[in-house]
Parts: sequence; structure tokens; C-alpha cells
Amino acid sequence: MAAQLIDGKKIAADIREELKANVAQLQKDFGVTPGLSVILVGEDPASQSYVTAKERACQEIGIYSDDNRIPASTTQEELLALIAEKNADPRIHGILVQLPLPKHIDTDAVIAAIDPAKDVDGFSPVSLGKLMLGQPTFISCTPHGIIQLLLRSGVNTDGAHVVVVGRSNIVGKPVANLLFQKALGGNATVTICHRHTRDLGNFTRQADILVAAAGAPHTITRDMVKSGAVVIDVGVNRVADPTAARGYRLKGDVDFDEVKEVASMITPVPGGVGPMTITMLLFNTVLSAKNSCK
Ligand code: GUN
Repeated sequence: MAAQLIDGKKIAADIREELKANVAQLQKDFGVTPGLSVILVGEDPASQSYVTAKERACQEIGIYSDDNRIPASTTQEELLALIAEKNADPRIHGILVQLPLPKHIDTDAVIAAIDPAKDVDGFSPVSLGKLMLGQPTFISCTPHGIIQLLLRSGVNTDGAHVVVVGRSNIVGKPVANLLFQKALGGNATVTICHRHTRDLGNFTRQADILVAAAGAPHTITRDMVKSGAVVIDVGVNRVADPTAARGYRLKGDVDFDEVKEVASMITPVPGGVGPMTITMLLFNTVLSAKNSCK
């Protein structure tokens, strides 16, 4: 049986249409245009392309995008001063500092400096703490995108056993928390696995829903997936391929061609979780602008 594809591009496009209407309504009712400051320190090619995609997505739905590309030599003090400036700017409803940062900068200090009311990445201790407590907050974008993919594909998480592979602050920890909250898209039994997990397959084979966020290609092979499971692949691994125009191909953490033969539903890479991450950033920026009108 070949699995049904969960089409992240289509679901993301649907949500972006909804957000476009929200932006127009905010302008009509309050004269407010949502604004997102994007800060990129240095010239990492992958980060540059992510930031460009985020800014383009903002423009497409009418969000004002404030581009800040600053040199890798920027000091932590200079970066904190820039964040303080954006915290105080009423045109800006969201601040995103693209990660990773150069090694001489303390990432935790930078994230903590963002006003929680503008933390549209949902990475700050305040946002993550509220998320864990089930309180309204900015939900980090990839985890929120995963929940939306499941909900909008008709996957019921209630009572399901979800196995999350990966324990990062950006994906693994928040998505696991969301999945067991008392909420729509939650109420699951969640197991978190990571690189110290012994016999990973023993756990992944028990998953009704498997979320692969390990950050390494070929982590999930066919023998590790239960027949009929729903598989969400969060991996975005650049694998060298001289035949590809850019010299690399994007690969997920899942052996897609094999696993699609046993799963009931699966996200492709690219075109699955990726488009949702940017979409939920737009969602959070619009939410922040709405909050500013209250
Ligand atoms: N680097 C990789 N993913 C992300 C993300 O979602 N937000 C930020 N700020 N940096 C990232």
C-alpha cells in the first residue's frame, strides 16, 4: 500500500490565504499593518535562503518585513542594542533572529532579550514555559505547523501513541508538549527518543504517529515503522548531489521511498513540514499585531 501524501504546500497555501484576509481586516478595522523584523547575523547560505523565503512570504500576504542582515563580526552588545530598538518600535510586531548565531554570541541571552510580546519564533523561556503550562502564547513555528498538518489532514491525536525522535528546543521538546496537552491536536500519549535511546526501532514501531526530527538522513527506515502509521518528517538535510542544479538535494530523516510503502500517511521532503514553518511564523506575526490592537 502506498501512503497518502500530506501536502504541506497545499495546507500552507490555504492558511496563507486565511492570513491574507486577516491582514486586510486588521488594516481596515485598526489601520494596523503587521510588521516582522528579521535579523540575520553573518552569511551562512542556508540561513540566507531561509530568511529570504520568510521575507518573501511576509510580502506576499501584506506583512511589512524589516530586513536586518548584519556582519558575522557583529558583537553581542550590538545585536542586543538592535533587538532593544525593535522591541521599542511600534511598527514591529514580531522579531526573528535567525539561528544559528556565530559562536561568539550567547544565543540564550539573545532570545531572552526579545520582548515576549514580539517573540513570534516562540523560542523564549516565557513562550516555552506558557506552552508547557497550556497557556495561550506564541507556539514555535515548526511544532505548530506539525499540529496543523495533522489536524487539517484529519489525523486524530486523541489517545494515539506519538513517538517523537529528537529533543531539540526548536522542535522535539515543544511538539511533544503540544501533543499531550488537553487540547485539539493533543491528548496523545507521547514518547520522546533521542541519540541515547537504546534500540530506537523498538520505540518507533509502537508509534501510531511518528515525528522524525533527528536532523540526520536515513534515521527512520521501513523496518522501524508500524503498518498504517502516520509519518511526519521534519528533517531538512542537504545531501551532496552533483546531478542537482544546486549541487545538493534536500533529504528528510525518513527513507521516504521505502517508508511510504508501510505508512498510511506521510509528509514529503521538500513540500511537507517546511512550508508550514514559514506559514506559522506569518500566523504568529498576525496574532501579535491582533494582540497589539486589544
Ligand atoms: N533556524 C532554523 N530554524 C529556525 C527557526 O524556525 N527560527 C529561527 N529563528 N532560526 C531558525
